[in-house]
Amino acid sequence: MRMSAPAAVQMDSTVDIQDVAVRFRSRKRDVTALREVSLSVRSGEFVAIVGPSGCGKSTLLKLVSGLLRPSTGQVRLLGTEVRGPRRDIGYVFQRAALLDWRTARKNILLQAEMRAMPSAAARERADELIAMTGLTGFEDAYPHELSGGMQQRVALCRALLHRPPVLLMDEPFGALDALTREQMNVELRRIWRETGTTVLLVTHSIPEAVYLADQVVVMTPRPGTVDELIPVDLPAERDYGRTMAEPEFARVTGRIRDLLGAATSAE
Ligand SMILES: Nc1ncnc2c1ncn2[C@@H]1O[C@H](COP(=O)(O)OP(=O)(O)OP(=O)(O)O)[C@@H](O)[C@H]1O
Ligand SMILES: [Mg+2]
Repeated sequence: MRMSAPAAVQMDSTVDIQDVAVRFRSRKRDVTALREVSLSVRSGEFVAIVGPSGCGKSTLLKLVSGLLRPSTGQVRLLGTEVRGPRRDIGYVFQRAALLDWRTARKNILLQAEMRAMPSAAARERADELIAMTGLTGFEDAYPHELSGGMQQRVALCRALLHRPPVLLMDEPFGALDALTREQMNVELRRIWRETGTTVLLVTHSIPEAVYLADQVVVMTPRPGTVDELIPVDLPAERDYGRTMAEPEFARVTGRIRDLLGAATSAE
């Protein structure tokens, strides 16, 4: 039996950030990157994070992954406090960060080597992901033989190889042209629905955030905190063109623009 409401909320949360602050101190300067950040993400939820440059979005993902410890407050992932680098996550960065001398498949399998996963199971999972992301036929291509979008697909496969319950994505499509980016958005939404992974995605694109997410976190300028949490009330099945034409899409993108516009003009 669940005894109290706060405990129940925490039990249900895959990511639970409570009253976190991050300060970077060096001899040259002190920077408060984040202050009073609280955020709870349910299992299987897709959360997009938007905010002005330098407001602490990447810092927030680093806290969840354990690459960084908060100065104050607490971060919990899958019910335990994050105290150091966590292995139960997948991470995708803005640049695909592939090894030039390894083929697409070997780049994906790097994840298995780092974790000493059984190789037959890893190869099988890699093949599944290659098919899921439309990379079939390019398994043996080297990164320089792949387009930018394909390289990001390889990075996504690598991040998903060990079936992480949580996927962190930091501007994964920022370097792609607009059309490829749209295609990647559609693919990512489909893959997310197929895998059931909880996703935290940082993006500078408001339409991308609203098309993909169940909730959008809008952050204030540095020291960043959560300005508003906006639920996206769109159907689970989202045709790209039709979604853009929905009144709910216009409402949410408009609200985010207002918040970010107000943030910039207040600077
Ligand atoms: N390791 C570090 N040491 C010192 N300062 C840091 C460090 N990492 C980040 N910062 C500072 O913290 C603030 C937030 O940085 P962060 O990278 O999280 O911003 P961001 O929201 O991801 O920005 P962008 O949208 O430009 O990627 C910045 O002022 C940055 O200079
Ligand atoms: Mg960043």
